[in-house]
Amino acid sequence: MKPAERFRNFQKYIPIEPFEVLSERLGRKPEDIVKLDANENPYGPAPAVKKVLTNLKNINIYPDPESRALRAKLSEFTGVDQDLLLAGAGADELIDLLLRVMLEPGEVVINCPPTFGMYPFDTRLNNGIVFEVTRNNDFSINTNKIHEAVAENSARILFLTSPNNPDGSLISDEDLKQILELPVLVVLDEAYIEFTGDTPADWRNKSHIEWVPSYENLVVLRTFSKWAGLAGLRVGYGAFPEWLMPALWAAKQPYNVNVAANQAAIESLRSLDFLAKNVIKIRQDQKKLFGMLSALPYLEPVPTEANFILCRVKNFPASYLKNYLLEKGIMVRYYETPLLENYIRISVGKPADHLRLMQALEELI
Ligand SMILES: Cc1ncc(COP(=O)(O)O)c(C=O)c1O
Repeated sequence: MKPAERFRNFQKYIPIEPFEVLSERLGRKPEDIVKLDANENPYGPAPAVKKVLTNLKNINIYPDPESRALRAKLSEFTGVDQDLLLAGAGADELIDLLLRVMLEPGEVVINCPPTFGMYPFDTRLNNGIVFEVTRNNDFSINTNKIHEAVAENSARILFLTSPNNPDGSLISDEDLKQILELPVLVVLDEAYIEFTGDTPADWRNKSHIEWVPSYENLVVLRTFSKWAGLAGLRVGYGAFPEWLMPALWAAKQPYNVNVAANQAAIESLRSLDFLAKNVIKIRQDQKKLFGMLSALPYLEPVPTEANFILCRVKNFPASYLKNYLLEKGIMVRYYETPLLENYIRISVGKPADHLRLMQALEELI
């Protein structure tokens, strides 16, 4: 017996290093590590979520395979009919599920790097071919090239991310409308959309999830990992065109959203005021951090709409800066890819984290 040949040189997704592993390797206590590498929410979940998890019921019972209660709450939150909503073990699971049901072997998926690494990973996993349309120098999408690429490759799916990870730029409504005219399924990943506004009403205005019922070829993905601080529980959701729902239901793992994640997500949707206050803090601290980083002579932060700041590193290699910070117990994201060779990405943390970061960065002047 041996694994399928295509896994011999399969390009893996490189996840971030677990906190505890790093803590041991650096010989630092976990509380001495400043974790700014994975765009997580430094404030964690709402108190009501912690309470529900402490008193969690029905752990011995399989969860609702249709996440009915959660989808009903999500429908109120997003304004999208629950029949078009599907919950998953993170948006990650839904990316894979979508590719499973949409792709025939050898079909093309368009990716616009630099962007989130799971799209090409899951495409290859599902026997698809990745066609790259690199973003412009300011990280905006190259709409002309996307048009060409869809036509020339008979592409099945196009992944777009707004705000984009790693730079935090948004896609304009005009660009999106134009792209939606193409004969391709557009997957718009809005994992960070809640950081573009202060209130749930703002989020609803900024998100394109309510466009889904009006387009045959639009999917919008969202998550509880970022704004709601539930990254460790793995719960996300998406809105999909009606024609796609039966296939997704057919292919979905039956118990994909576990009991704890279900309850925590529902309770988060009941704690919107509390969670929005954390989002406001993160938005304000992002602006302050941006100002402080801009003042450093060797860093050039990229304007962002999200809870992270991509910085171009001048004067010395970005990998050096990443390792220098790591030695000081500060984790930031560095990508070993030519497109981002000179960049690091810093997630917005708490003010005390920023103080530690800035002290370390100022020592390099
Ligand atoms: C653009 C984007 N989409 C999706 C995800 C993953 O979301 P989830 O935690 O819900 O799987 C991330 C995580 O970093 C992301 O950056």
